[in-house]
Amino acid sequence: RERTFVMVKPDAFARGLAGEIISRFEERGLKLVGMKLEVLDREHAEEHYGEHEDKPFFDDLVDFITSGPVVPMVWEGEDATRQVRQMIGATDPAEAAPGTIRGDYALDLGRNVVHAADHEDEGANEREISLFFDDDELVEYDQHDASWLYE
Ligand code: GTP
Ligand code: MG
Repeated sequence: RERTFVMVKPDAFARGLAGEIISRFEERGLKLVGMKLEVLDREHAEEHYGEHEDKPFFDDLVDFITSGPVVPMVWEGEDATRQVRQMIGATDPAEAAPGTIRGDYALDLGRNVVHAADHEDEGANEREISLFFDDDELVEYDQHDASWLYE
């Protein structure tokens, strides 16, 4: 099954929403295989958001994502990247449907509570997972309810 990279952003952590956001993926039935709590240094943040380095909002984005603790995670499941992007909602919370994480917890484009790897970008998961996790930090175990989640 597919693995996808997800991260609770500093705004959500500061607002006490990390647990709520993690619960969304847990309750959906996705399998958590990696998680940490850290404050990103600038170099790490600039590499993570490298695709946006020429954009006018790049410095603000790096300032924000390094401004407090984040919760990087790896979730596994059938079609996980697409499913997670749907659960997160549109990049701009003003456009995000109610019921999505951004649609329920965020108001502003620059404070949109959660990151997930881009479904359209082929190499995104592999690149982002390896930027945040060593192989031995991803946990192997049986998802005990898998036969109730998948036919
Ligand atoms: P991430 O999961 O954070 O990568 O968001 P995304 O994949 O939905 O959007 P994208 O990668 O295009 O942009 C990365 C982040 O930059 C977004 O989450 C926004 O916070 C911010 N951002 C994107 N577009 C704009 C913009 O036009 N103006 C500003 N100020 N911020 C933007
Ligand atoms: Mg993105």
